Amino acid sequence: MQIKVPFLDLKSHHRPMMNEINLAIQEVIESSAFAGGQFVTNFEQDFAAYCDAPYAIGVGSGTDALWLSLLACGIGSGDEVITVPSTFMATAEAITHCGARPVFVDVDERTYTMNPEALNDVLTAKTRAIIPVHLFGQPADMDPILEFGRKHRLYVIEDACQAHGATYKGKRVGTFGDTACFSFYPGKNLGAFGEAGAIVTGNAELNERITILRDHGQVRKYFHSLVGWNCRMDGIQAAVLQIKLRQLEEANQRRRDRAAEYDAGFRECGEIIAPTQASYARHVYHIYAIRVGNRDETIKCLADQGIATGIHYPVPVHLQEAYRPLGYTPGAFPIAERCAAEFVSLPMYPELTHSQVEQVIEGVKEAVAGAVEV
Ligand SMILES: Cc1ncc(COP(=O)(O)O)c(C=O)c1O
Repeated sequence: MQIKVPFLDLKSHHRPMMNEINLAIQEVIESSAFAGGQFVTNFEQDFAAYCDAPYAIGVGSGTDALWLSLLACGIGSGDEVITVPSTFMATAEAITHCGARPVFVDVDERTYTMNPEALNDVLTAKTRAIIPVHLFGQPADMDPILEFGRKHRLYVIEDACQAHGATYKGKRVGTFGDTACFSFYPGKNLGAFGEAGAIVTGNAELNERITILRDHGQVRKYFHSLVGWNCRMDGIQAAVLQIKLRQLEEANQRRRDRAAEYDAGFRECGEIIAPTQASYARHVYHIYAIRVGNRDETIKCLADQGIATGIHYPVPVHLQEAYRPLGYTPGAFPIAERCAAEFVSLPMYPELTHSQVEQVIEGVKEAVAGAVEV
């Protein structure tokens, strides 16, 4: 079957920028600033300004950003960090790799982000931090999370890996937590030509510690004040990202326009739960995920019509095999588990056309109608 609507179309996205990007890559090659260096510093300044935050630190990936944030906050063995099971594995992995224990709370049924009311149930003397995830591009409900964090003296680290440019009550994500972590994995709203990530913070001390940690703990060449790791951003990624950052707002707006068209198309369709934009949020639709009762048949029916889909994520993190030692069992987080069984991510990217959206809407309606008849 010919693909009529791909899940993502990075080639079309990059095409209008390629002249500029090729020149920028050439400049990096000419200057040999491949690991860290001026291109990274330039991008860091632009990204901090975009987020309306004092500091941004370029690193190798979103996973690095999460791990270094936790390390810089002094989190380690014997500590507990609260997060959600509806996320990509990296959120929890970063906690584990610091030597701490991930502790999960369920998500809100409408927003799929951390349910702040559940935090108190899992608070212990060992709790040191909270990582809310701005899942699919929708900010978590930060005010009650920050209030809980302040009350119990916990760090709050935003996992903003899917939410570049999203806002909460009019303010950009990245400006709420002690740090915020971004991924520039190629398919993200702001994606590199390889792996990259960034930490955004307003805390000068954390900025300094993370800047040192990401480069083997060096304060200057071959003088190491901390035991760090190699988490530097590479110069070519920084140069590409600096150019792509300039069109992020427009690209996010196009995603929002397409999302509004999907929303309108699914409004009267009882079998489909479309995403909800919270009243406090400007959602940037990294992923547009609907929920349907008969997911496998729906996906197959769409594939038969040449419409590509994804599942984010089929198994919630607390039930991943790797986390069996944590002792969670099915039923622990009913909302996250139900969502994992029902989510279907539809094609979503800035170059998606109105007529492609219409094809997908018709395809989904046909798929769920077929699924209902079976
Ligand atoms: C919510 C979330 N957290 C963390 C990450 C990790 O980012 P990276 O792949 O850049 O390491 C991702 C990337 O997919 C993500 O979606």
